[in-house]
Amino acid sequence: MQIITTKAELEHSIQACKMKGQTVGLVPTMGALHEGHASLVRRCASENDVTVVSVFVNPTQFNNKEDLAKYPRSLQRDAELLNSIGAHFVFAPTPEEMYTAEEMNEPFKFDFGGLDEMMEGAMRPGHFNGVVQVVSRLFYLVKPDRAYFGEKDYQQLAIIRFMVERSALAGTFGNLTIVGCPIVREQSGLALSSRNERLSAEQKQIALGISKTLFDSLRWAKEPNASVLAVQQRVVENINAIHGLEVEYYQIVDQTTLLPTDTFNHAIGCVTVYCGAVRLIDNIKYC
Ligand code: PAF
Repeated sequence: MQIITTKAELEHSIQACKMKGQTVGLVPTMGALHEGHASLVRRCASENDVTVVSVFVNPTQFNNKEDLAKYPRSLQRDAELLNSIGAHFVFAPTPEEMYTAEEMNEPFKFDFGGLDEMMEGAMRPGHFNGVVQVVSRLFYLVKPDRAYFGEKDYQQLAIIRFMVERSALAGTFGNLTIVGCPIVREQSGLALSSRNERLSAEQKQIALGISKTLFDSLRWAKEPNASVLAVQQRVVENINAIHGLEVEYYQIVDQTTLLPTDTFNHAIGCVTVYCGAVRLIDNIKYC
């Protein structure tokens, strides 16, 4: 496995693979890798000849400086894990290598057809613009056949799919396929997240209330006369009743349009909860 820090070396190395007719898969990450990331990398390695993993804490997707500063960084440990699970290249650039000063301060504004206006997009203005800024740059550099993203960041996945579908006609990213992969949970049900590292042992116990409530809501949705609105409220009330948790939003939306829905068909519930100062997200599909 090779660790690469410059765009030029990345492009050169990938081109050499493509010349040999090898297929290339990309797993974009911000590091602090856990089993959720590992599942993406393993899948990528099983479906492509060459697996590229980017490890880059992208400053332009953080609208909170403190959150950016506190984001865990562990390149050496990440590289050891990636080496053991079949990655061929790790791309770990500095922000200055990725962006010009102008791109960093005044990023190009993307249009997501409204998919960025609710949930995470509403709470974190500019967040998805920063995500797509870095992801599209990675797509240009690597030109992967497939790129892998976790369903935990469901809105992010929907927006990236939208961006790729919209540029398909222009052939911007070639025949790129976006592969969404299921959430990986601890045995307790807690969705794996790099942010879990910031939870104390006690908070980790408390945070179990999030997934437990989401799973309970699958039953509530099947009760006679269950309505989306009532289930939505019940989820919020139940999580807020747990000392140490505070819901920022819970919205049951259509899985494709992300618009509010009044049916459980093709619906997904997306939640963000503060556990102390740590912001956790999770989701559940109703069918
Ligand atoms: O999901 C993440 O870790 C990040 O948003 C991503 C896709 C790597 C872009 O920085």
